Amino acid sequence: MSLTRRALLGAAPAAAALVACGRHDDAANAAPAVAPVRPLKDTAPFRIGTCLMTAELDDPQFTGLVQRNFSQVTPEWEMKMERILAADGSLALDAADRIAGFCRDSRLAMHGTTLVWYAQDPPTFEALKHDRAGFEDHLRDYIRQVVGRYRGLARGWDVVNEAVAEDGNGYRGGVWAEGLGDDFARVPFEMAREADPDAVLFLNDYNLESMPAKLDAFQRLAERLLKAGAPLTGLGTQSHLGFDTPPGQAGAAVKALARFGLPIHVSELDITTHKPGLSLGSPSDPARLQAQARVAAEIAAAFADLPAAQRYAFTIWGVRDKDSWLRGSAQGAPDDAPLLFDAAGAPKPALAAVEAAFARR
Ligand code: G3I
Repeated sequence: MSLTRRALLGAAPAAAALVACGRHDDAANAAPAVAPVRPLKDTAPFRIGTCLMTAELDDPQFTGLVQRNFSQVTPEWEMKMERILAADGSLALDAADRIAGFCRDSRLAMHGTTLVWYAQDPPTFEALKHDRAGFEDHLRDYIRQVVGRYRGLARGWDVVNEAVAEDGNGYRGGVWAEGLGDDFARVPFEMAREADPDAVLFLNDYNLESMPAKLDAFQRLAERLLKAGAPLTGLGTQSHLGFDTPPGQAGAAVKALARFGLPIHVSELDITTHKPGLSLGSPSDPARLQAQARVAAEIAAAFADLPAAQRYAFTIWGVRDKDSWLRGSAQGAPDDAPLLFDAAGAPKPALAAVEAAFARR
């Protein structure tokens, strides 16, 4: 199961519509109830993360589930340039600050995403892409202001996101490659290190489980950065998987990336139960939820088997099924059930499977 770039990015507007009018609620399709389980964060000696946005902080069930089950938060989109960097170059950090405040008040760690991402090309950088010095100054100033602001709360940052081409042939830099040339991946790491001497600095990507050529290219980029002396100190595999992800694939990237000896972040785990064109059953069919649980158990076990120093965090990309970006994605479905809690906030078989995988270690 590989998520296409269209699906990954197609989510934004549609997901926005869902957020704007209240995400699709399908309590009627709620997963079969499973026995109440322990708070997820109490089942592992490492950070268990989820993502959120400020719109969800006004929902007491949502915040209660986050505070009970998670020990780290990744702002889903409000710490990205699309929300922070205005066309006039000013920074809007109100939403990011609110999330940071929630993390501090709830004693949650925070992980920042993302600094440089081909999918985001703000006008102020577009305007500077033929002026290397000006481009670098603008990026250094942005990173200094944003990363510096959350120093001490943000354990780590996705410094460069999704830099590898889908087929593994080359890299995707967007305006960042235009402005920084071949250094587009290295320079942001140096700037982030200047802004925060302690944060873990990640290279992050997706489909590393399902596309061997992409995984190879990702590893080659990591090697190249390390050889160039870039302060790359963490590797993130987003792990957007499917209920039909073949056995052995879910843990593949985690196991492969472990050879670098760096902290690993399963950074955006979700396991879609929707399959385009498969009309049999619904995304909440018990059989699909059991298959989802198997995939969840496999990646949880692979992560838990890492040496303790390499277990940065295990992050699920959302809390309840109705909170998932996938419900608005071009490849998902309005009743997709990709997360560990169903639309009503009840535990699903995948939650129990993850807890069991952690408990066995
Ligand atoms: O909430 C606002 C709404 O008030 C406004 O009317 C609307 C139109 O501007 O935008 C809404 O915000 C949207 C937000 O999702 C909430 O739905 C943003 O436009 C939209 O860009 C944002 O999309 C996010 C996307 O990254 C782009 O940042 C998704 O939530 C988020 O799940 C997705 O996450 C990415 C990872 O960063 C990288 N890996 C893939 C993953 C999924 O695409």
